Amino acid sequence: MLLKDFLIAKGTEKKLAELILFLGEQAREVKKGFLATVKTGNAGEKTRNIYGEEQMALDKYSDGVFISGLKKARLVRFIATEEQDRIIEINNPKNNFGIVIDPLDGSSLIDVNLCVGTIIGIYPGHVLDAGRNMIAALYILYGPLTTLTLTTGKGVHEFVMDGNGEFVLRQENIKIPEGKIYAPGALRKDYLPAHARWIESLEAAGYKLRFSGSFVADVHQILHKGGVFTYPGFKGKEKGKLRLLFEANPMGKIIHEAGGMISNGKADILGITPQAINDRTPIYIGGKKEITQIETFMCEP
Ligand code: F6P
Ligand code: MN
Repeated sequence: MLLKDFLIAKGTEKKLAELILFLGEQAREVKKGFLATVKTGNAGEKTRNIYGEEQMALDKYSDGVFISGLKKARLVRFIATEEQDRIIEINNPKNNFGIVIDPLDGSSLIDVNLCVGTIIGIYPGHVLDAGRNMIAALYILYGPLTTLTLTTGKGVHEFVMDGNGEFVLRQENIKIPEGKIYAPGALRKDYLPAHARWIESLEAAGYKLRFSGSFVADVHQILHKGGVFTYPGFKGKEKGKLRLLFEANPMGKIIHEAGGMISNGKADILGITPQAINDRTPIYIGGKKEITQIETFMCEP
């Protein structure tokens, strides 16, 4: 079943369905852009792509695709992206939606041809709102296959891009299984005490380490195989590295819908009202069991 037909079959509100389909089309453009940035020649020529054009970093390119597309289509009122330092307000928008975008998460892995993705959250209005008020969240993963994982608050569903660039249903109602994978960010020498004790307990319980350097890809693996991803607060950076708006909230909404949890170690991240678009947060995301455990460790003296 095509994404378009799926959205109709699920009774998705028309304006929201139109926006989701539009975002899928933009992802197809981003994917096309990958080829245009393939480097050729020796190191001295590395600013030119295979067409001999000056090369643009792919995260900036992806940002441009989403922003210029959304400006033209006027399907949202507010746009916040990880690449921009302020919220863009569209003139004369057709809808009141606010959208948050991490245009290319894991972009440090592009050079080595590992999995990267686009993360998106959609709000009914302004984006400086708690994650639990999102009306939809999705991510597109550019891996061996290009997949789109979506929630509109009625389960989590995955689509795969076919040879015509259309998204076709691959798996409906995904639920996070029990699993023993852990993906721990930050340096062990900088761990805070409760976090260090929790990591030790996972290792003692036989959890296997899987950390790629691409948050979206690592959480995608956890969604399908179970376990937990964390980028904690650490010595010198107690708020951690990842962003509340662009990374934590949309992925948290999806994992929550799949029966998992997201926490900053003490409370549900989806309940936090952001102060600024670039707020950072410690992240624990994955199975209920693991997230409940870290919250217990954090409470202990
Ligand atoms: O967007 C930030 C990011 O690239 C995430 O995708 C990833 O989980 C993290 O940074 C990796 O950080 P580090 O290089 O510190 O392991
Ligand atoms: Mn990112």
